[in-house]
Amino acid sequence: EKGGYRHFMLKEIMEQPRVLRDCMRGRLDPLSGKVTLGGLMPALDRLAKARRIIICGCGTSWHAALVGEYLIETLAKIPVEVEYASEFRYRNPVLFKDDVVIVISQSGETADTLEAVRVAKKHGCLCVGIVNIVGSSIARETDAGIYLHIGPEIGVASTKAFTGQVMALSMFTLVLAVQTGALLQDEANRLGLELAEIPDKIARMLNEDTLNKIQNMASTYRYAHNFLYLGRGTNFPVALEGALKLKEISYIHAEGYAAAEMKHGPIALIDEMMPVVILAPKSDVIYEKVKSGVQEVVARKGSVVIITDEGNHDLDDLAEFVIETPITSEYFSAMITGIPLQLLAYYIADYRGCEIDTPRNLAKSVTVE
Ligand code: F6R
Repeated sequence: EKGGYRHFMLKEIMEQPRVLRDCMRGRLDPLSGKVTLGGLMPALDRLAKARRIIICGCGTSWHAALVGEYLIETLAKIPVEVEYASEFRYRNPVLFKDDVVIVISQSGETADTLEAVRVAKKHGCLCVGIVNIVGSSIARETDAGIYLHIGPEIGVASTKAFTGQVMALSMFTLVLAVQTGALLQDEANRLGLELAEIPDKIARMLNEDTLNKIQNMASTYRYAHNFLYLGRGTNFPVALEGALKLKEISYIHAEGYAAAEMKHGPIALIDEMMPVVILAPKSDVIYEKVKSGVQEVVARKGSVVIITDEGNHDLDDLAEFVIETPITSEYFSAMITGIPLQLLAYYIADYRGCEIDTPRNLAKSVTVE
């Protein structure tokens, strides 16, 4: 059942190309790039007229929501707020009837997220679910939705669900952006074709060389007590997610930060004992600034891991390790750059002899409040 892998987590990381194809099947036409989402049809008109979109989730699903905020605001031009479901439900949010609430949940059973649905509906808002488990409570109580179709996720640490959630949000954004008129159908289709290529790009990245390199990195850093992850734009939530994975399964303290925030505080932590993982795609509009951030870390004897575009050797001299990732549009890169971080957490936890699929104190779905 683990498909020959030692842990569900590794199986679920490695099957991401296949499950992303499942997620797109019948929705994204691979020839034209056009996206159609059946489960959204009844809600599309109201969605496009939304005054504001609020996305709620917990943990990894909240990180996917942050990627969604970036996508929807940039491409569909609707203002978006992201909230922890637990905060949203308890703070009497000001909601209008023309607000739309999107909830994201792999299990569809997270208590706080389910309660966020009820709060939204009490205020008369349209509520859309992005859920993996078919027929789950959240799927049943939302007005419309998108299923991930990525198959069951058994490992407690969420991996393919994050990537699937970002894929669902990407397709959602393209449909919405055409409906609002922010994108022409042709422009959306071009981005759709870019999306269609993501699974093959991930498959290409997951080769023996990459796995060996990440394993090697994990062996080098297995005794670290702290890690810092930095990224900006859609890679900021990827940094948060990378840090969460490491905490959950290897019990190493880690923090994710927006890259430019480092100089406002966390830089004080950096010394030779502190590995810093920096997401630095060259397509980044402020790549040069991110690069100078790398130099600042190195100047303080920090050990730097760079995740960057294939063929970019610009940072080889500064970094201890460079992981090259296939290039895609900056909108969609989270689906690719997140994966080396999942693997890094996995291999470090394995070196440390941790119970990877059932980490201490964690449950797969948090149905208590
Ligand atoms: C992280 C993780 C948790 C869940 C969170 C929400 O690896 O598994 O942070 O992401 O409990 O769960 P769902 O998405 O089922 O609502």
